[in-house]
Amino acid sequence: MREKLVAESRTIMTEMIMPNDTNPMGNLMGGYLMRWMDIACAVCAARHCESQVATASVDHISFHEPIKLGDVITLTATVTRAFNTSVEIYVEVSAADITGANPRQSNHAYFTFVAIDKATGKPTKVPTVIPLTNDEKKQFEVASRRRELRLILAGKMKPVDAKELRTFFTEL
Ligand SMILES: CC(C)(COP(=O)(O)OP(=O)(O)OC[C@H]1O[C@@H](n2cnc3c(N)ncnc32)[C@H](O)[C@@H]1OP(=O)(O)O)[C@@H](O)C(=O)NCCC(=O)NCCS
Repeated sequence: MREKLVAESRTIMTEMIMPNDTNPMGNLMGGYLMRWMDIACAVCAARHCESQVATASVDHISFHEPIKLGDVITLTATVTRAFNTSVEIYVEVSAADITGANPRQSNHAYFTFVAIDKATGKPTKVPTVIPLTNDEKKQFEVASRRRELRLILAGKMKPVDAKELRTFFTEL
C-alpha cells in the first residue's frame, strides 16, 4: 500500500448562502453546513483512499457565529492520519461576505471515513499519510488519541485498551 502526501487529497469547496439554505432568522441552517462538511470530507477521504468511502463518525461540531444570507463559505478538508481501513479528515469552515470582507473562522470538525471495497462491500486497507509541515505533523501525532476516544465513546474499544490515551494522561 503506497504512502501519500496530505496535499494530494486536500479538498477546497466554496458555497454561497442562498435563501433556501437559511432558517427564519436569515442564517445558514446548521444541517446544511453539516451536509457540505460531510461532502468536502468524503471527497478528501476518497481521493486519499482511492476508493469509495462511508462516514463512520463525526466529532463534536459547534457553531461559533451565524453565517448570513449572501455570505460565501469556504470548506477546507485535509487528511490527518490513516489507520488500517479508516482515515481521519479535518475540516475547517471560514465565512466572508461576497467581496471577501469580514472574514472569520466559523467552525471545524473531525470526520472518520472507512474505505469500502467496491467488489466485496467490506472495509479495505488505506494508503498511509506522510505529514510534512509542522501543522500536519501535530495533527498526525494527536490523531491516535482522538481515534481511541471516539472508539471508546462508540463502545468499540475498552478504555483499558486505549494505550495512547493512557500514555498521554500518565505523562501529564
Ligand atoms: C463504518 C462501517 C463501514 C464500519 O464497519 P464495521 O463492520 O463496524 O467495521 P470494523 O469494526 O471492522 O471497523 C472498520 C474500521 O471502522 C472504524 N470504525 C468503526 N466504527 C467507528 C466509529 N464509530 N468511529 C470511528 N471509526 C470507526 C474502525 O476503527 C476500523 O478502522 P481501522 O481499520 O482503521 O482500525 C459500518 O459501520 C457502516 O457501514 N456504517 C454505516 C456507514 C454509513 O452509512 N455512513 C453514512 C451515514 S448516514
